[in-house]
Amino acid sequence: MKAITLPAYQGNIIRALRSLEIQEKELPVLNSDEVLIEIAAAPVNPSDLAFIQGGYNIRKALPAIPGFEGTGKVIQTGSSTEAKNINGKRVSFFSQSERGGSWSTHIPVKACDCVAIGNELPDEQAACFSVNPFTAYAMVELAGEHGSKAIIQNAAAGQVGKFINVLAERASIQVINIVRKEEHVDMLKTAGNKFVLWNQEEDFLQKLKELASSLYARITFDAVGGEQSGQMLGAMPDNSMLYLYGALSGRTLSEIPATDVIFSRKSIQGFNMNEWKDKLDSNSFQDISTQLQELFSEGTLKTEIQGSFPLAEYEKALMQYIRGMSAGKVLLLPQK
Ligand SMILES: NC(=O)c1ccc[n+]([C@@H]2O[C@H](COP(=O)([O-])OP(=O)(O)OC[C@H]3O[C@@H](n4cnc5c(N)ncnc54)[C@H](OP(=O)(O)O)[C@@H]3O)[C@@H](O)[C@H]2O)c1
Repeated sequence: MKAITLPAYQGNIIRALRSLEIQEKELPVLNSDEVLIEIAAAPVNPSDLAFIQGGYNIRKALPAIPGFEGTGKVIQTGSSTEAKNINGKRVSFFSQSERGGSWSTHIPVKACDCVAIGNELPDEQAACFSVNPFTAYAMVELAGEHGSKAIIQNAAAGQVGKFINVLAERASIQVINIVRKEEHVDMLKTAGNKFVLWNQEEDFLQKLKELASSLYARITFDAVGGEQSGQMLGAMPDNSMLYLYGALSGRTLSEIPATDVIFSRKSIQGFNMNEWKDKLDSNSFQDISTQLQELFSEGTLKTEIQGSFPLAEYEKALMQYIRGMSAGKVLLLPQK
């Protein structure tokens, strides 16, 4: 098999990227609960960039194969029934195990970390199915449980942000979108989203506060961190909750209004899709997976893809993604 390998974690993304190389490796010997997947497509996600920079909560032993998500065909299985049940199937997978990475021609993955994919879903959609759609689904469900009539979210032109807009509309929940580039205001408005704020506009905080109050937005999904966390928490009404689910700014949370936390019962909590998934029984997870696959098949949900590259062109692929993430995911096609 061939795999992109990372020799050392490096904080500077360009240096980290330049240090990657393609290596030939032996195919792994499978554990009983694993399947071997011949990878058709694997995306580059923000968590992959954080991983190669050593800034993610997962650190694999070095040299490591990056990439947590992808799709492909199961070509070999371990001896467990769960593994044998998906022999020969097309699957989408999410795996953060030491045993491999998705930026590779093959990967051993636990059968329980695979989702069988119907033929209607092309590889480019299946490659990005295991993380973002479930994340957005879970967060919109959380907003409903909180009884919030509206959601505030930043990084809104990203893929999770776009999914949240679609799923929230179906749940009759309004969304106040925050973007960092002015051109993304029009992009989201043209796509039918009513409330979109550019965080550099002069009266951004005032507008955010007015909208949060008039729409009664008591829940925020924050993918950025830094001072934006405090700004969003401060703009929300009493009894609000901010869920931090990404750290795109790379900065610690700041400008948290202390009196709001003490006297207005505003709070902050982390959200992690893996933890959410672990709490579901397998039938509930399967039901949600089926619902989401149907939404993809009918075209209600769609991951934007801005480019697809053979494995050997990983440097070009990563650079294109880093330059503008809102344009869509970049895929690596290991069999090309
Ligand atoms: N906790 C979980 O379980 C979980 C699950 C899934 C995803 N996530 C996280 O969710 C976030 C979004 O993921 P995604 O797949 O939707 O990403 P994506 O589609 O690649 O888009 C990223 C978005 O964030 C914007 N962005 C990048 N850096 C930013 C910064 N410093 N400040 C403000 N905006 C910034 C990008 O704008 P440009 O176009 O300007 O680059 C783009 O709109 C990531 O942090 C990811 O790790 C967390």
